[in-house]
Amino acid sequence: MSERVEIFEVGPRDGLQNEARLIPTAEKIALVDCLSRAGFRRIEVASFVSPKWVPQMADSGDVLAGITRAAGVRYAALTPNLRGFEGAVAARADEVAIFGSASEGFSRANINASIAESLERFRPVAEAALAAGVPVRGYVSCSVDCPYEGAIAPEAAAKVAAALLAMGCYEISMADTIGRAAPEGIEAMLKATLEVAPADKLAGHFHDTAGRACDNIEAALGLGLRVFDAAVGGLGGCPYAPGAAGNVATEAVIERVERLGFVTGLDRAVVAKASAMARKMRTGETA
Ligand code: HMG
Ligand code: MG
Repeated sequence: MSERVEIFEVGPRDGLQNEARLIPTAEKIALVDCLSRAGFRRIEVASFVSPKWVPQMADSGDVLAGITRAAGVRYAALTPNLRGFEGAVAARADEVAIFGSASEGFSRANINASIAESLERFRPVAEAALAAGVPVRGYVSCSVDCPYEGAIAPEAAAKVAAALLAMGCYEISMADTIGRAAPEGIEAMLKATLEVAPADKLAGHFHDTAGRACDNIEAALGLGLRVFDAAVGGLGGCPYAPGAAGNVATEAVIERVERLGFVTGLDRAVVAKASAMARKMRTGETA
């Protein structure tokens, strides 16, 4: 039997947070409802961050309230601090994510804290989530390259991953935030991280600026990773990572991993429909 690769759909959050146009809540809900029919187990739909920092995510509570929840799908939200966690719980997010960085420059630009300060801020969020029985995921941004500092030492990424794991994160998603990494860089970063975390606790979150994200996924597959974040239609980017393009497109990941003999359990026709909706949202046409 073919081995499974899970795609964690992040388009409604990572994709839409960076769109210049403020997308109406109803369009976001329609996209999530379409994605809910595609076979994903996890979809990141919201972000309880400062609306001054990321205005595009200000309606996260309304999105979570408006979606039609499908059985077996967990709807996830980013939570940078306890206030965000409380918002996510009130909106009935099924899981939350804390998001750190392997580079000081990006940590400061993205969440206004040093790496050490951010970890101290995340600790009570992880504790509250665990106490409430809410699964908490961790991100390590700029695990290979940083828009402010250039190349990042693999050990720096591994150190943050280890800290997030020790806080109780059930999985750590290692991000190529600016999408410029090559497979060799991903391999070096993952080899260091695998010293502190088993492959089944790691995911890959690769943006596709340089068009190498699928090659990077292939490199990560070779090291045992089986979970990858992606966004329908290749939506996205991070407002605090200048020049970063979107996440790797979900449909491209399906194509690549299925060609390599893995199964995703996803309905390609539904994914294509969601992708068309996402592309229209980007251009401002009515979805
Ligand atoms: P700060 O200014 O250091 O914190 O921001 P603060 O506590 O002084 O709060 C500043 C203001 O935000 C205050 O409002 C707070 O009330 C409010 P004001 O008094 O100015 O009116 N505030 C909040 N509002 C709503 N929800 C909250 C919240 N917390 C504070 N939870 C903070 C620190 C973390 C809040 C800020 O830096 C922030 O919101 N950053 C978010 C950045 C972000 O969302 N970036 C994109 C997501 S990360 C990403 O895309 C990378 C990823 O995809 C992986 C990868 O690709 O690398 C995950
Ligand atoms: Mg991202």
